[in-house]
Amino acid sequence: MEGAPRTALDLFSGTSRVGHALKREGVRVHANDHNAYAYALAGCYVAADARTWRDRAARLIGELDALRGRGGWFTETYAVRSRYLKPANAARAEAIRARIAKLSLEPALEAIALTSLIEACDRVDSTVGLQMAYLKTWAPRAHQPLALRVPEILDGKGSASCLDAREAALRHEVDVAYLDPPYNQHSYLGNYHVWETLARGDRPEVYGVACKRADVRERGSAFNRRTTMETAFEDVLARVRAKRIVVSFNNEGYLTLPRLRELLGARGRVREVSVEHPRYIGHKLGIYNLQGEKVGTPGPARNREHLFVVECNMARARRARALANAVTG
Ligand SMILES: C[S@@+](CC[C@H](N)C(=O)[O-])C[C@H]1O[C@@H](n2cnc3c(N)ncnc32)[C@H](O)[C@@H]1O
Repeated sequence: MEGAPRTALDLFSGTSRVGHALKREGVRVHANDHNAYAYALAGCYVAADARTWRDRAARLIGELDALRGRGGWFTETYAVRSRYLKPANAARAEAIRARIAKLSLEPALEAIALTSLIEACDRVDSTVGLQMAYLKTWAPRAHQPLALRVPEILDGKGSASCLDAREAALRHEVDVAYLDPPYNQHSYLGNYHVWETLARGDRPEVYGVACKRADVRERGSAFNRRTTMETAFEDVLARVRAKRIVVSFNNEGYLTLPRLRELLGARGRVREVSVEHPRYIGHKLGIYNLQGEKVGTPGPARNREHLFVVECNMARARRARALANAVTG
């Protein structure tokens, strides 16, 4: 592919950090993720055009930030029954979420408001970053009052969707597609279930000490299962229509690196870079049983992140397009 990309597709967008960085470089980005909280982040950081929304977003967030707390189901579930947020902060988050729903905002403005709320909660939550569990004693930051900020929205157009990656891949033809799928059993929905509830504004059935949403058990990703990961990745790859495909993976995934190289090689010429990376926080904390005793030995302190860049063979891309047309009819 010659020159800088003008269009990009981030199929597993998560925080939308990548799409945001590309948008800042002037690339027109489409961001997709199947979880609602990630869709809100994508709507804010990738789809919303600051030229249209900056002033209204600042006014709205000022109004929302002035609301008093009003505790209900959300506060009871996440600040009393479990302890992700201090009750006063949870009650304010609950009041802000209720007001956002009542205002029936345009999608971009709603995404900006939800992002502001999720990020404000994230700054005062009482976890080590993941919502598999909360801390036994309140994290120091949890005592800070919840405060909204206007997210850093950028000038320029973009778009966002909340689809399975296989479906989103069919809908866009781009210069660069970025694939950063989950690579093991850890579900992003389970790890960020409180943000999912905030984004959806619903009152799901919850289970266990962590008060996870019941649908964490039903809405699993094919990428989180050893038996389905490879087929799911192959399916996505076959559907992607891009001149260049960039894939992020590590050496601990369900898909082995030799198999991944083989699959990518079928789409074109592959280059690869890899870097060592500290493993997630669980490694530092150790492994504990239900009685709080340290048990077992965590794995290695570091793992290796691989970035693959595929210059797609256009004849193969045409075959992928024919498949896409056949699937979409
Ligand atoms: C490794 S994370 C991506 C992180 C992202 N690159 C970032 O910078 O934050 C993988 C993402 O894939 C999403 N995901 C998992 N299965 C999916 C599927 N079948 N379709 C779409 N998104 C999926 C998860 O919600 C999660 O946000």
